[in-house]
Amino acid sequence: MLLHIPGLFDADEILRIRQALEQADWADGKVTAGYQSAKAKHNLQLPEGHALAKEIGGALIDRLWRNPLFMSAALPHKVFPPLINCYREGGSFDFHIDNALRQPKGSAERVRTDLSSTLFLSDPHSYDGGELVIQDTYGVREVKLAAGDLVLYPGTSLHKVNPVTRGARYAAFFWTQSLVREDSQRTLLFEMDNAIRQLGADVPEHPSLLQLTGTYHNLLRRWAEV
Ligand code: NI
Repeated sequence: MLLHIPGLFDADEILRIRQALEQADWADGKVTAGYQSAKAKHNLQLPEGHALAKEIGGALIDRLWRNPLFMSAALPHKVFPPLINCYREGGSFDFHIDNALRQPKGSAERVRTDLSSTLFLSDPHSYDGGELVIQDTYGVREVKLAAGDLVLYPGTSLHKVNPVTRGARYAAFFWTQSLVREDSQRTLLFEMDNAIRQLGADVPEHPSLLQLTGTYHNLLRRWAEV
């Protein structure tokens, strides 16, 4: 499942974030890439643990944890703290699949990368190219969102970032370990949760709501790993 979550940061916040990023000291993006993907990766990244990455990442996670759409779709268990990257003219990241496990710096725990998220931080008209191309179950999808919007997609997907041919593309990205490992099971739960919410809004007293909500939780109990 590929999900678009709009409006996590407003225009003023985006402007302040971008001004700060334009002043930052950037490192080569290859430092967090695996052996195979390092050959495909041509971009810049804020070093892990950079104060600005922590600030933006902290605010992002905070908002997602209060976002019903994200919570319902991702069923998050734990996250690898957001990283910030920049693709300038000529920057790209060819097709790859992300490493399955990630260990945050200074942490003993590893995070299984069930889900990937990208938060767009640049106005789509301010740069050419830079689409996030994701091989979905139903074919190839090109994603280029408004600044402040996020896309959530399965960590199992083959994906790439098209070359940027004008301007600069800033983004935050991170991985989530879900309570439910399989994308197909998460999708089923997400669709069921949406249907229950809709029914609850349209027919609040419907007697089937009790059973449907119970069935949702019984499926979640069957599939969740904590
Ligand atoms: Ni990737």
